[in-house]
Amino acid sequence: MQLSSLLLLALASLTHAYNLPAFGLRGGSNDRARSAVNGRAAAPTMASDGLKVIICGAPASGKGTQCELLKEQYGLVHLSTGDMLRAAVKDGTEVGLKAKEAMESGKLVSDDIIIGIVKDRLAESDCKSNGWLLDGFPRTEAQAKELEAAGIVPDKVLYLEVPDDMLIERVVGRRLDPETGKIYHVKYFPPESDEVAARLTQRADDTEEKARVRLEQFHSNMKAVESCYAGNIVKFDGTTKKEQVFDNLKKCLDEIK
Ligand code: AP5
Repeated sequence: MQLSSLLLLALASLTHAYNLPAFGLRGGSNDRARSAVNGRAAAPTMASDGLKVIICGAPASGKGTQCELLKEQYGLVHLSTGDMLRAAVKDGTEVGLKAKEAMESGKLVSDDIIIGIVKDRLAESDCKSNGWLLDGFPRTEAQAKELEAAGIVPDKVLYLEVPDDMLIERVVGRRLDPETGKIYHVKYFPPESDEVAARLTQRADDTEEKARVRLEQFHSNMKAVESCYAGNIVKFDGTTKKEQVFDNLKKCLDEIK
């Protein structure tokens, strides 16, 4: 037998033995999840087929960190209302001008500013075909009710629970890479190199004082949001390592399809 035939035979046995996709030679979902956790590009493990997910939790509970992993895992469109609003403020758009003051003080921007933006974005074709991961919305009962009225119903609402003291530590230690958008923490997830460290930035609302206002806003609204999704909201311990949190979220989402 020729060498090439022998190689093909060996490849086929490996594929069968480890249940790998035929000749794609990509690992199983755990391998890809690990790639995602390590920040390397990972192909989505399954066609999301329009998976619709809301992720909620207090400021700095780890929503953005988990979204980095979830969007790689499932190929979902990640919609962060905080990021959208910060971009609008930076660009000086009409929405940005309206949102700026509330954001700088740690308060929520008014419902009428944010609801229209989110509904329009969810109606775009990429959200329809890839599915979506809504991060930071809805944050009030009015926002949840508007989604419902528009017929926008999530497959699952994931709620990350972290005690307030831990949240403050996470807020003040958070740093962001403006080039890659990656989220770091001075203690828990320090940058990989001096080059990255030199370009990290800190959000204007990431001070202890503003974080306390943000937490207060969160606690006064979350119960009402929770009750809008009773029966479809799953709570997760957000205090464990990010890989552990991710594994638990993944188990929950994998059960949907
Ligand atoms: P937004 O940007 O949504 O802020 P937030 O909800 O306060 O959430 P954060 O982005 O602060 O935290 P996160 O949960 O994403 O945590 P992260 O993963 O970064 O909103 C900002 C503002 O916009 C609001 O205050 C409001 O004004 C306005 N706004 C937005 N949406 C609105 C809406 N719908 N209605 C009205 N107003 C709206 O993690 C935090 C840190 O912890 C990082 O350093 C990270 O590295 C670290 N970390 C994460 N996971 C772990 C872990 N498991 N262990 C240890 N450290 C961890």
